[in-house]
Amino acid sequence: MKVATIVGARPQFIKAAPVSAVLRRHHREVLVHTGQHYDEEMSAAFFRTLQIPDPDYNLGVGSGTHGEQTGRMLIEIERVLRAEAPDVVLIYGDTNSTIAGALAAAKLHVPLAHVEAGLRSHNRLMPEEINRVVADHLSTYLFCPTESAVALLAAEGIRAGVHMVGDVMYDVALATAQEARQRDILRRLGLTAGQYLLCTVHRPQNTDDAQNLRAIFEVLSECGETVVFPVHPRTRKALDAEGLAADVPERLVLTEPLDYLDFQCLLMSARKVLTDSGGVQKEAYFFGVPCITLRDETEWMETVEDGWNVLVGADKEEFAKAIKEFAPRGTKQKSFGDGHAAERIVEILSGHR
Ligand code: UD1
Ligand code: UDP
Repeated sequence: MKVATIVGARPQFIKAAPVSAVLRRHHREVLVHTGQHYDEEMSAAFFRTLQIPDPDYNLGVGSGTHGEQTGRMLIEIERVLRAEAPDVVLIYGDTNSTIAGALAAAKLHVPLAHVEAGLRSHNRLMPEEINRVVADHLSTYLFCPTESAVALLAAEGIRAGVHMVGDVMYDVALATAQEARQRDILRRLGLTAGQYLLCTVHRPQNTDDAQNLRAIFEVLSECGETVVFPVHPRTRKALDAEGLAADVPERLVLTEPLDYLDFQCLLMSARKVLTDSGGVQKEAYFFGVPCITLRDETEWMETVEDGWNVLVGADKEEFAKAIKEFAPRGTKQKSFGDGHAAERIVEILSGHR
């Protein structure tokens, strides 16, 4: 079987890593990088750290408006699919690279497989929500990370081709945890385990809205805690535009985006995680780190229902209060699979005729 995998943004390299490794044991993979993320720390670092093979194609589309970026991807992915004639196209998550891959495959009548199917925030102001809905409705194979994702698809009338396989991000987190723990990033940043908070912010509603960005930054600066904040390039731009990164207290440690293992290492020993990332909310849950989510809703409701994640939006008071007081009670009850989602995905695809 020949599978064309489409990736382009940081979380997709992480999600594709375990599936690519299993897939290549018995099948041919054509790896297509759209070039949506291109900085060394946002792209190459992940291929190196997670030992992902070099892409067969790098489409180099770069940044742009949604239409520009997605349109360029669509043109280039179609070209690749026509030349390679894969049996299946494999897409991940909910970025513009996901929707471009979905549209290109569907129009060429190539069966489409979506990893991380069935997630919904029910907020169509998020570009990701539009990407997810379209990708799911065009897919032949829908690989769900959780039972609630299966139920959400059923509510939209999608039942055929739905497989509950578990979360591929859990696969990666488990497989690399030991290696990550050995990283010396705490020493390099002068941190003590359990005595700092880890923060990431990159959602447009927090970065492109100056009032929200300022509110978040004020809380981080004034909370009196050591906060490590690896800054996403979108956020770096916004901080520079608002002049917020110029004069920060010593306790607020701004870094470049970190590679996967350094980031996991920091996360495992953090006292709390503060984030608007989808993947980071889950990873905090995997490792039992309390998570404060800088959004009004989440696709990962399990983590909130279980008491390990709290939604505070960009509300200054709620955010500051959660930093001080939020404390999960009890043990974790929700399942993200058993660390073998990738094997299940490949097994199901192997039955493709
Ligand atoms: C994208 C995804 C988002 C995902 C995130 C993961 C979409 C619509 N959004 O958001 O779902 O959570 O990736 O990180 O697909 N930039 C650089 N260097 C890079 C990449 C980006 O400087 O290597 C800057 C550019 O100024 C660019 C901006 O970041 O305009 C935003 O990049 P883009 O890929 O459009 O969206 P993200 O915010 O990264
Ligand atoms: N991540 C990383 N380095 C960082 C920040 C995040 O390796 O500096 C990882 C994180 O562990 C998670 C993934 O990137 O696996 C999440 O990606 P991101 O937050 O960019 O996107 P989202 O999950 O919100 O789509």
